[in-house]
Amino acid sequence: NKKFTSTSFIKSKQEKHMISMLTAYDYSTAKLLDEAGVDSILVGDSLGMVMLGYENTLKVTMEDMIHHTKAVKRGVKNAFVIGDMPFMSYHISTEETLKNAGRFIQEAGADAVKLEGGYAVIDKVKAIIKAQIPVVGHIGLTPQSVNMFGGFKVQGKSEENAKKLIEDALLLEEAGVIAIVLECVPAKLAKLISEKLSIPTIGIGAGNGCDGQVLVIQDMLGMYSDFTPKFVKKYATLGDNMKEAVRNYIEEVENKEFPKVEHTFSISDEVLGKLY
Ligand code: KIV
Ligand code: NA
Repeated sequence: NKKFTSTSFIKSKQEKHMISMLTAYDYSTAKLLDEAGVDSILVGDSLGMVMLGYENTLKVTMEDMIHHTKAVKRGVKNAFVIGDMPFMSYHISTEETLKNAGRFIQEAGADAVKLEGGYAVIDKVKAIIKAQIPVVGHIGLTPQSVNMFGGFKVQGKSEENAKKLIEDALLLEEAGVIAIVLECVPAKLAKLISEKLSIPTIGIGAGNGCDGQVLVIQDMLGMYSDFTPKFVKKYATLGDNMKEAVRNYIEEVENKEFPKVEHTFSISDEVLGKLY
């Protein structure tokens, strides 16, 4: 396995290598994904939902993100690690935005940051890139805008909305982002956007016309059951496997079948004799 870097994104698109990306939020999972050879790991603010049990991503803080990004980074050798900037960490001022983006790199060891939006955040994107921090864009269904969208809805269906997405994508490319996540965008629109750009698009619910794909790890492993979006493919049923394992454990504990001798430590009869 070779290290995937900030320049590997555009190179992948030129060489028609489809970029694989998954989320991870902890050391052990990140290590597994890295060993399996995934190109990039996103420490998504989706951790608010799948790790912390919030109903959306709005309560996630910079401290949450730094904590989890540090853990992921320790498990990774080759994958490109992206830290997801949480709600309100890049909205107040350019100064605060830079401070927060810098923390992902300096404190947590991320290779890049991702933030949601196009035109509305383009000044922030430019400032971060000027500070030599690679940026990944994210447009379409941007979950931090859930209160503005009035729910989690597919974006880009109307002509006006679709044109806005194309403009946002071009603006982000011009600003210098290394890739753009397209979330819940009609497949044909995502393909069109991908064709207009020389940087890669990473799709989630955006069809196979994108230049790469990303999924939330709990979704694709079948570990998160609160809500399963249409675009998720379950590559495993780990949730069921985990429950089955835990049921077996409970039963064996109750029956005293576990632990067995091989799971225990010994003491010499000589020492033991002196204890009675
Ligand atoms: O937070 C996240 O997991 C994301 C991906 C769904 C792109 O932003
Ligand atoms: Na996110």
